[in-house]
Amino acid sequence: MFNLFSQPFAISSDHGGYDLKTHLTGYMKNKGITNFKELGATGKDIVHYPVFVEEMVQLILNKDIAWGIMICGTGMGTSIAANRYQGIYSARCNDVTIARLARSHNDANILNLGGRVTGNILAEDILEAFASTSFLGDRYQTRKDMIDKMGNCG
Ligand code: RB5
Repeated sequence: MFNLFSQPFAISSDHGGYDLKTHLTGYMKNKGITNFKELGATGKDIVHYPVFVEEMVQLILNKDIAWGIMICGTGMGTSIAANRYQGIYSARCNDVTIARLARSHNDANILNLGGRVTGNILAEDILEAFASTSFLGDRYQTRKDMIDKMGNCG
């Protein structure tokens, strides 16, 4: 059965996402999931999330990891920043349905969560939906290819 947890990944946050990152790393470890890097803020001191987005993006583009979880206060800034890069499909998800569709239709390789707007239990469910859904390809791949030809990012 498809599950992204079987592929190497990373979880990162700024200060606004630190508490949710701590919760989700604990949640995953309790489930026996250990093949992830813990990156980003190490506490509540104010930091600048683009630094951590850049770190996550380079790990994915270099194929050191297959996908990532990025958490800031809203999930918005990290999503905007990561989507500047060709080959990154960064999806801000605040419910389970969007998380599932971000994978099945958009082949998202970064899940963005908002630590100040999404509760811990909902975030667990969003993460599970994201990780357990595969890309449908076919016409969705055609659209992805069209997106890849747009602009000149990266
Ligand atoms: C930090 O205050 C906050 O702006 C950041 O975590 C994020 O929400 C930005 O989109």
